[in-house]
Amino acid sequence: MTQEAKKSIVVLISGNGSNLQALIDAQSQGLFHGNIQAVISNKPKVFGLERAESANIDAICVDHTQFDSKSSFEKQLIKTIDQYQPDIVILAGFMRILSSDLVQHYLGKIINIHPSLLPKYKGLHTHRQVLENGDKEHGTSVHFVTAELDGGPIIAQRRIDVEADDTEQTLVEKIQQQEHQLYPQVVSWFCAGQLQFELEQNTGAARAILNGEIL
Ligand code: GAR
Repeated sequence: MTQEAKKSIVVLISGNGSNLQALIDAQSQGLFHGNIQAVISNKPKVFGLERAESANIDAICVDHTQFDSKSSFEKQLIKTIDQYQPDIVILAGFMRILSSDLVQHYLGKIINIHPSLLPKYKGLHTHRQVLENGDKEHGTSVHFVTAELDGGPIIAQRRIDVEADDTEQTLVEKIQQQEHQLYPQVVSWFCAGQLQFELEQNTGAARAILNGEIL
């Protein structure tokens, strides 16, 4: 049997890159059949770019502040990503809202991790909202990206209990611990061809399929 080529992966970040590190570590342990070809940050000098360099991965900054419009920034972003002909584009703490044109360009092969139990708490400050609302549980979600912010089909979630003494910082730590296991797992499904994105024929609704089952 011929072994299929490894999937080409591009990761987009904006900061620390702890999820990126989890993916780099998973790749080096052979946990998915893919190759992170490039890490692109919209912010210069972030630690995630150093993590990429240390792992001998192309580390590129496309600084959004250097462009006079969102569309010229995204044009350059697409050009940079497409050099690597990615099978999958992974948003790992990438904090820019992407236009529907860019999303359409990668539809079905762009995924995001978001620190809440979607559809709860789209957008920013999820941990703060969990505490303010006295929620007893919290979590993180991996989803396919569509034009609706944090609204694409959910692929997988991890849950945690919220304790009385939790703070935003403890929630960040607990959630990220979960994320560092969850994201490599989802990427392994994608690389193995077990995970697909589909538009439902009649309604056009987006959905995620894992091992032939609608999620
Ligand atoms: C992660 O917790 C991720 O869920 C969140 O940013 C953090 C990045 O951490 N993403 C979002 O809020 C996207 N809306 P990292 O840079 O250490 O991976």
